[in-house]
Amino acid sequence: MAANTLPAGYILVEGYPSVEEYLNLRTTCLSPKNAEQANAALKGSWYGVYVAEEAAPTKAVAMGRVVGDGGWYFVIADMMTLPEHQRKGLADVVLKSLLARIKSLAAKGKAYVTLGADPPGRKLYQKNGFKDTMPQVMGMGLLIESDGQEQ
Ligand SMILES: CC(C)(COP(=O)(O)OP(=O)(O)OC[C@H]1O[C@@H](n2cnc3c(N)ncnc32)[C@H](O)[C@@H]1OP(=O)(O)O)[C@@H](O)C(=O)NCCC(=O)NCCS
Repeated sequence: MAANTLPAGYILVEGYPSVEEYLNLRTTCLSPKNAEQANAALKGSWYGVYVAEEAAPTKAVAMGRVVGDGGWYFVIADMMTLPEHQRKGLADVVLKSLLARIKSLAAKGKAYVTLGADPPGRKLYQKNGFKDTMPQVMGMGLLIESDGQEQ
């Protein structure tokens, strides 16, 4: 269990929620994903934590994860808190835990931590030291439709 300063009644769990819990968070907070995507996402991550209520420790109410190479590139992904648990500081604890892990376990030197900041998370990220990288660096994205078949 990672250290935390969550409100009473919540626990911070190191690792990832179940695929089912992850899909529930995704559908409720961001965009829906399928089970194959969820399995790959959770297996392929470098680190993650989730928050649950003490009374239901496997039911994730908030989470965040890091996709990274352990050396230099670290991407913060899936920062999500279920609506009824928002504005209690859960995401702040999640984000601080992810950053602390990078600080303690990344290869010696400077780790480059990036994320795509949707409007609801922007203040949270700014509060935790993230800065707009424009105009030097413009974040760019591309969606590729995969059929899961080798060409
Ligand atoms: C972004 C998101 C993860 C934030 O989750 P959260 O757990 O509500 O975040 P926090 O509680 O740590 O902080 C959110 C706000 O609540 C405030 N807050 C924290 N504790 C509080 C408390 N006890 N009472 C009232 N407000 C509180 C924070 O100051 C912050 O306010 P601000 O944005 O005005 O600075 C959540 O809104 C979410 O899941 N959104 C949909 C998915 C999404 O867009 N994710 C970001 C992808 S980049």
